Parts: sequence; structure tokens; C-alpha cells
Amino acid sequence: MSDEAPKRKRIFSGMQPSGEAHLGNYLGALKRWVDLQDEYECIFCIVDEHAITAGGDPLELPRRTFDLAVSFLAVGLDPDRSTIFVQSDVPEHTELAWLFNAVTPIGDLERMTQFKDKAQRFESVPAGILNYPVLQAADILLYKADAVPVGEDQKQHLELTRDIARKWNAAYREDFFPEPEPLIGKAGRILGLDGDAKMSKSMGNTVPILAEPDEIRARVRTAVTDPQRVRRDDPGRPEVCNVFTLHGHLTDAERIPDIAAQCRAGTRGCVDCKGILADSIADAFAPMRARAAELEVHPERVREVLEAGAERARTIAAETVSEVRRAMGLDWRHAAPAGKS
Ligand code: TRP
Repeated sequence: MSDEAPKRKRIFSGMQPSGEAHLGNYLGALKRWVDLQDEYECIFCIVDEHAITAGGDPLELPRRTFDLAVSFLAVGLDPDRSTIFVQSDVPEHTELAWLFNAVTPIGDLERMTQFKDKAQRFESVPAGILNYPVLQAADILLYKADAVPVGEDQKQHLELTRDIARKWNAAYREDFFPEPEPLIGKAGRILGLDGDAKMSKSMGNTVPILAEPDEIRARVRTAVTDPQRVRRDDPGRPEVCNVFTLHGHLTDAERIPDIAAQCRAGTRGCVDCKGILADSIADAFAPMRARAAELEVHPERVREVLEAGAERARTIAAETVSEVRRAMGLDWRHAAPAGKS
């Protein structure tokens, strides 16, 4: 890049370390992140400190973090162009989150729909669940990101991030933090194989994208289709069938009209239809599967990427936090001499 090149806008995004990426991670986020690298300076973070906001499994977490890093690289996040790192490697995330607590009203946190949903699952709600979006705001604002690619479900957290930026600026230093824009993807909500809830590891309704074709087939076979189609030759309704929606994302566009027509006419059964989908998935991810296999035998490459990414991230993060500390008066060394009167 020449010196005169206009400065590219910066984006930040994060993903929880749920292990190997699944179809929902890919269609809802990763696919887009890969493309955004052409246009933006990108920072991609595996947010392991978000994963422990309600406890978690300390034995599983390191492996899940590593496996997600493998998935990041396998799908085409490119460490030569983007900063890829693990949140807990950069302690400034938690430090800035603490500092942001000073300007974040509890009422705003209690109003978050994700907080309300998650809180219901606990008899005694961990404070981490409530403060989750404060840490997310810190993730984004540490790097003064211009924009954040997120799904619809994170829009409210991003709105809160903008509020925190505004409140902090008003209290301590005008125009210090930008108000990052959400970049909402077109893919919409990717439903799991149950056809009901968002695809997510905790729901057990996922298709791992880097799995062997046999495993992909076995998973896709469990998918729920149009509930009104009981017998193989009953006419189906593609418009209410999640398997058909997934075909739209993964199967060659020329084949889609036939798949719809055969479903409506009852000339192709759901088992067959799911077989085609499984093949589409296995084919689409074949090159990525090969890259992941290569990284599995060279874990040192993954480690190097994460170490270098953390170092780059730390440089930016340390500068932001040092200015924030100063603005908030956390620097007794700069104390003005007490005026003796
Ligand atoms: N909360 C986000 C999710 O569950 C993950 C996340 C954490 C994130 N920090 C972020 C996303 C910063 C975007 C930017 O999807």
C-alpha cells in the first residue's frame, strides 16, 4: 500500500469459542468476514472471556478456542491481511470493560433482550451475564472500530456500545471514541437442523462444516422438514422448510427451481432432498476441510498466527487504555502539585 492510499476503515468482530465452526457460524458470519478483508482493515477476535461469563468448562475451553482458530484459517481469514487473536491474550479488554462500568447504567444492561433470555436459565444470575455487553463494547472500542459486522441478534449490543462511547466521551474527552456502525448481514438468521432455533452449539442443532462427508450426511439426515409431509409422496411446502432454505445458501442456483418443484409435486422425498443438501455442504467445504487437516498436523502455524495477532492487537489496545486511564484520572504520577493556601 502506498503512503497516499486512503486509510481503510477498520472493522472488529468477535466469535465465541464454541469449537469447530458450524454452518450457522459460516453462513451467518465467517463467509462475510472473509469478503470484508478485501475492503477493510479487519480485526477478528475469539472471545473466550465472553464464553466464561456464566462459568464454563475449563478443560474444554482451550481446545474449543484452538479449534475455532483452525476454522478461521481454514475458511480463509488471512493473517497476512487481518489481525486474528484470542481475547484473553490482551488484558486491556477486561480493563476497559471495568472502566466502562463507570458510565454504564444498570438499567440499560437489564433491558438487553439477551440478558433477559439468559437470566431465566439461572436461579442466581451471574453478574457476568449482565455485564456481557460492557465487555463487548470494550472489545470494539479498544480498537476504535468504524464498523462491526454482526447478526440481527447483536444489534442491541451494538447500540449499547454506541451509547457507552457517547457517554464516556461526554464525561471525559469529547470525540475520543467513534460510534461504530453495525454491518448487518443479508443471510438473516440461520436456523438449526430442528428448523426452530438459531443454529448454535448449545442447541445441538448444528452441522460442523469441516467434518467428513459421512458425518455431514448423518447430521443432515436428522433435519426437520415440512411437518405436514408425512409420507414420501405427500406434496411439500418448500417455503416453510428449513432444508430448502439451506439449499438456497449451498446448492447450485440452477438446481433450486427443480428441487422446489419436486417437493411441491411430492416426486422427491425429504430423505433424498437432504442427501442432496449434504452433498452440497460436503462439496462446498472440501477445500476448507483439506486446509483444516493440514493445520491439524501443524498446530505451530495456528499458534504463531494467534501470538502475532495478539501482539498487534496489544499495541493498539495498550495505547487506547493508557489514554482512557489518563482521561479518567488514573495517573497519580501526573498529579498537579497541591496548591498550599
Ligand atoms: N456477542 C457476540 C456474539 O455472541 C460475540 C462478540 C463478543 C462480538 N464481542 C464482540 C461480536 C465484538 C462483535 C463485536 O455473537
